[in-house]
Amino acid sequence: MDVCLSSAGGWLEAENEGDLQKDSARGPPGDANKIEPSLHSLQKLVPTDYGSYTQERYRFAGKDIVIQESIESYGAVVWPGATALCQYLEEHTEELNLQDAKILEIGAGPGLVSIVATLLGAQVTATDLPDVLGNLQYNLLKNTLKCTAHLPEVKELVWGEDLEQNFPKSALYYDYVLASDVVYHHYSLDKLLTTMAYLSQPGTVLLWANKFRFSTDYEFLDKFKQVFDATLLAEYPESSVKLFKGILKWD
Ligand SMILES: C[S@@+](CC[C@H](N)C(=O)[O-])C[C@H]1O[C@@H](n2cnc3c(N)ncnc32)[C@H](O)[C@@H]1O
Repeated sequence: MDVCLSSAGGWLEAENEGDLQKDSARGPPGDANKIEPSLHSLQKLVPTDYGSYTQERYRFAGKDIVIQESIESYGAVVWPGATALCQYLEEHTEELNLQDAKILEIGAGPGLVSIVATLLGAQVTATDLPDVLGNLQYNLLKNTLKCTAHLPEVKELVWGEDLEQNFPKSALYYDYVLASDVVYHHYSLDKLLTTMAYLSQPGTVLLWANKFRFSTDYEFLDKFKQVFDATLLAEYPESSVKLFKGILKWD
């Protein structure tokens, strides 16, 4: 099994991983921000309701990536925007200068994009709603521990809420803000746009990949273009995903 954790010292082979998942007595995810990166911490993040999650496999950045998906509060599933964005990052690593780049992902879900960005050398902070962070932390650690230059961080970021408190402008700088399939039928679209703008400093590039389905997706795109100088970087017709680069308008 060619995932980072199992290849890093061989201390979590597939067989042991099965044992790990059977050990439901260890309990549900806690505060992911407080978790130390170790096998012990991974054990704390394994969901207890095994009927509601599954694993999907991907290959990016020369690594096999195993993503634990869930239909309940441990996380979400990988959406098509994520695989498109990963493909783009992988194909443009040097051009994007990802080595040591500071990256924040919003709405990271089960974490595929953050994992790939980390494997490509970036310093990544993956963010999402509180309920999703346990599974996100699990996937990030499992796929990056002991095989990347920088260990990814997980932080709560609820769009439009407590931004200055949790991400003070004075300490805020990201080379890239990444977002995949964060635009769909939900009621936080204005807060999402506010958050995208808040996280953008001079020099920050927002990479947003999204499957376009509904008129509301295009309405968001119109608003996005009012706030960001937007360039269509790539289109993936087979999945209806478009990938935009956005630079915040400062005037
Ligand atoms: C459709 S999923 C996409 C997940 C992942 N980016 C992908 O492409 O596979 C949307 C993600 O946005 C997160 N999300 C939804 N509303 C949010 C909010 N108000 N604040 C922060 N994250 C939110 C969800 O928890 C979920 O992880």
